[in-house]
Amino acid sequence: MADFKRTIQEKAKNHFDYMVQTRRYLHKNPEVSFKEYDTTDYILHELKKIGIETHRPLETGCVGIIEGGKTSDRVIALRADIDALAMDEEGEAKRSFMSDRPGAAHCCGHDAHTANLLGAANILTEMQDEIEGNVLLIFQPAEETLPGGGRLLCETDFLQEHNVQEIYGLHTSPVHQTGTIATKPGPLMARPDEFEITIKGTGGHAASPHLTVDPIVMLGEIITQFQTIVSRSVDPADPAVVTIGRVRAGSTYNVIPAQAELIGTVRTFSQENAYLIRDRMESILKGIADGAGGGYEFEFNEGYPAVVNNEKLTDYLIKTSKRYLGDNAVTQMPKPLMAGEDFAFYQQQFPGAFFLLGSGSEEADSQWSWHHPRYNVDEKCMLTGSALMAGLVLGE
Ligand code: NI
Repeated sequence: MADFKRTIQEKAKNHFDYMVQTRRYLHKNPEVSFKEYDTTDYILHELKKIGIETHRPLETGCVGIIEGGKTSDRVIALRADIDALAMDEEGEAKRSFMSDRPGAAHCCGHDAHTANLLGAANILTEMQDEIEGNVLLIFQPAEETLPGGGRLLCETDFLQEHNVQEIYGLHTSPVHQTGTIATKPGPLMARPDEFEITIKGTGGHAASPHLTVDPIVMLGEIITQFQTIVSRSVDPADPAVVTIGRVRAGSTYNVIPAQAELIGTVRTFSQENAYLIRDRMESILKGIADGAGGGYEFEFNEGYPAVVNNEKLTDYLIKTSKRYLGDNAVTQMPKPLMAGEDFAFYQQQFPGAFFLLGSGSEEADSQWSWHHPRYNVDEKCMLTGSALMAGLVLGE
């Protein structure tokens, strides 16, 4: 086994320039969710170049299959997401490969995820004879946008038909140092749901409130009452968030508007809690609207499920990481993150483990938070990531 470690590390180094070039090409040519046509063509070309069988179960994104030289029932899937965000970027460190496409930018590191998995594809192809069973390389579209490319891919049954038994995914992390990874068994990332509320009153003159039903007063009560949902209705041992992200009402000093709007997000780790919060929101809305003589419209849009790591696979992931990267390179996260990830859809069907790939360094100017216009990765993270992905296939 010791040979694998050295061989994989050397191969990751050999393919480092390739991964950097690939990442920079993708960075310069970003495409937003469900529009990753050029990106998909690029990945297909790269996979075919090294003789990997390719499939295109969705309109964008693709899956490569490596058949191992050793017969086995094992089928392991490695997943990268490939989409960019609908935003413009900034950042000196990226000057030479800034986005050429206004309104699209890789400010969440999916360019590096893609380049990293292509790097792993190269390593694994060179070691094909040593692989037991098959490897699926999933280049998934639209992680950033509901319903989520992961969900759509799972709905095609492509992965079931190829007998996937375990799946691993990663995300670059500006808060963890390059060369390290971070993960934990059990709940890792939250379930993000979204809500939209319209509060209906009766508008009129600001000086005659008695002739109106003021939706702004209802709005104020609703905002305050919503703060009691997590604090009074959810089990305190179970993390949850209700955040109102935007309120809109009224137009000027002396008019009471007819309606007010409010949108926001709910974060939980179970469907049970998400539905509990949804139902509490509804009863608060109803109570306040009835009391004031107004009305409301309430939409609760279910997002991704929570990312919950399989215990056995996480154990294997941690052991393999320690072996390939060193004992100190693995951070056991004490608590989950409240952000969401559509990797959760795979985990609903297959045992899966997700981890954060440290990509933060001062030198590389890569400590900006996810989705910040200056978001960047320390490209050396792909040395760690590609070696670890290959290591997960070849064994601890
Ligand atoms: Ni992301």
